[in-house]
Amino acid sequence: MKLAVLRGGKSAEREVSLRSGEQVAKALRARGHDVTPVDLDGGTWNVLRDGAFECVFNALHGRLGEDGTVQGMLELLGLAYTGSGVLASALCMDKSRAAKVMRGVGLDVPEFEELEIKEGVAADVVEGLVARFGLPVVVKPVREGSTIGLTIAKDVDAVASGLVLAGRYDRRVLVQRFASGTEITIGVLATPEIQVLPTLEIVSDNPVYDYDAKYTAGKSHHIIPARIPEAARAAASDAAARAFTELGCSGMARVDIIVDADGTPWVLEVNTVPGLTELSLLPDAARAAGIAFDELCQRLVDHAVGRHRRHVGPGAK
Ligand SMILES: Nc1ncnc2c1ncn2[C@@H]1O[C@H](COP(=O)(O)OP(=O)(O)O)[C@@H](O)[C@H]1O
Ligand SMILES: [Mg+2]
Repeated sequence: MKLAVLRGGKSAEREVSLRSGEQVAKALRARGHDVTPVDLDGGTWNVLRDGAFECVFNALHGRLGEDGTVQGMLELLGLAYTGSGVLASALCMDKSRAAKVMRGVGLDVPEFEELEIKEGVAADVVEGLVARFGLPVVVKPVREGSTIGLTIAKDVDAVASGLVLAGRYDRRVLVQRFASGTEITIGVLATPEIQVLPTLEIVSDNPVYDYDAKYTAGKSHHIIPARIPEAARAAASDAAARAFTELGCSGMARVDIIVDADGTPWVLEVNTVPGLTELSLLPDAARAAGIAFDELCQRLVDHAVGRHRRHVGPGAK
């Protein structure tokens, strides 16, 4: 097949996406496909329109890539593409609105408040937040990834500076109750049958599972399955599948969860284009389920092509 792999882009996660795209391109070439890597820029529309691609593999992370915008472009171009559609992509990028949907269907989401940062935040507002959520408290931009702009604040001053930091990435900022427990992530495939991948526990050398811990080899470790009781594993897997379905995801997603001492799975977020290097979380969980990386990429392409055909209908151009 003639395939394009979209990678890079303009988000804060550009470097990660370049790596994801490179690995995906390599895997698809190994499968015998004719693969063109495309770094998203102003000329991308023309490259995709004129490229006669049978499918576009989207390996873009973050805004202007994972958030529905590129999916909209691909819809307009009439091209098959991997992963979720416009609505689910946009919804999952917005941690605040996604959390409201998940809470609405009864999933456990740590309590939060959204603030709009204009010119700093008054001291009494910060104190009010600390009184409501306690310490530590999490401060993060609504629409960002890879732990960029996130603070786990242990005192009032750290909350104030965390708000300023998060506000640099997005004027919409979340202040969220800290969930204490075992950090896990669960990959979900739907190509189209739903397959919940094994639970993956993340053990990080850094106190927070931050950008450095995520992308420096050896600074975080994956334990599959997660070391939590069987009942908690089942509850977390069920929560991941429900989050995926209720948010309307397609193809694949990875659901970040903290499992507390009672076994409650607190859902943090759903990533519609999770990291796709061979060392990344979802590919690792897929491998544990017997799905090699090239097979994973192939399945996502096949699903995209099938979905596009059904959507366009037989006989259509
Ligand atoms: N409410 C929370 N309680 C405890 N830890 C959190 C919470 N929110 C985020 N974290 C920590 O920060 C990391 C990144 O947060 P997350 O919401 O997954 O955003 P992203 O991965 O998009 O930056 C998580 O993997 C977790 O380690
Ligand atoms: Mg995350």
